[in-house]
Amino acid sequence: MTPDDDEIRRLYAYPASDRPWVRTNFVATLDGAAHDAGGRSGPLGGDVDTHVFGILRSLADVVVVGAGTARTEGYGPAGVPIAVVSRSLDVPEALVVPGHIVITTADAPADRLARLRSTLDVIAAGDGEIDWPAVLDELASRGLRHVLCEGGPTLHGDLVGLDLVDEVCLTIAPVLAAGGAPRIAHGPQAVDRPMTLGHALDVDGVLLTRWVRDRT
Ligand SMILES: NC(=O)c1ccc[n+]([C@@H]2O[C@H](COP(=O)([O-])OP(=O)(O)OC[C@H]3O[C@@H](n4cnc5c(N)ncnc54)[C@H](OP(=O)(O)O)[C@@H]3O)[C@@H](O)[C@H]2O)c1
Repeated sequence: MTPDDDEIRRLYAYPASDRPWVRTNFVATLDGAAHDAGGRSGPLGGDVDTHVFGILRSLADVVVVGAGTARTEGYGPAGVPIAVVSRSLDVPEALVVPGHIVITTADAPADRLARLRSTLDVIAAGDGEIDWPAVLDELASRGLRHVLCEGGPTLHGDLVGLDLVDEVCLTIAPVLAAGGAPRIAHGPQAVDRPMTLGHALDVDGVLLTRWVRDRT
């Protein structure tokens, strides 16, 4: 049974927190693939996942997304600021409009940095690697504490590696994919991060789950 929107908002309300709260949102197949045979994740979870995806955006202060996902999934403006993470600064033109944010390193290509700065809010932190604690502080200083990261797996792997993911919203799609698709997080360093189940909802065979980082 599909819960109504008020119930979904209640289930996914951000917890009270005196620091930025990083929620990630993904869909995966039964065998763990993070995209379908066509390389897209959007269609995997069907209408219910798309619906919850929209509600999660409405609850967030900012959507953080890797440039790879923004490019592949054709990101454009939404009703919430979108912060694109990119080292190369190859940001989709649809997102180069005032109100959005770019997160990059201080040593990103200077010409592209200057061009984007003329339109976008740029957070440049860290040399070589993005300094994520500094980025979260910068977002918080703009009043953006409810962070929703929509991936992709590379960005997610970095944040898991740094233990900055507080919560994972994972839709499990009733599909087998095989092939070589990545999991929802990957990176050079394997880690173990215990998580506690917040809820699991079966909506016509699509499982909506929410997991919170167990820091005890
Ligand atoms: N299942 C799901 O829910 C889900 C969600 C999102 C995406 N996906 C799928 O995942 C695939 C894309 O995967 P991906 O791993 O390439 O996505 P990604 O993490 O969105 O993109 C990787 C790119 O983002 C930038 N980036 C990410 N982390 C960075 C960091 N810490 N520092 C600097 N730059 C960083 C870099 O951009 P530059 O190259 O510009 O420097 C990097 O090349 C697509 O097929 C998409 O459909 C699935």
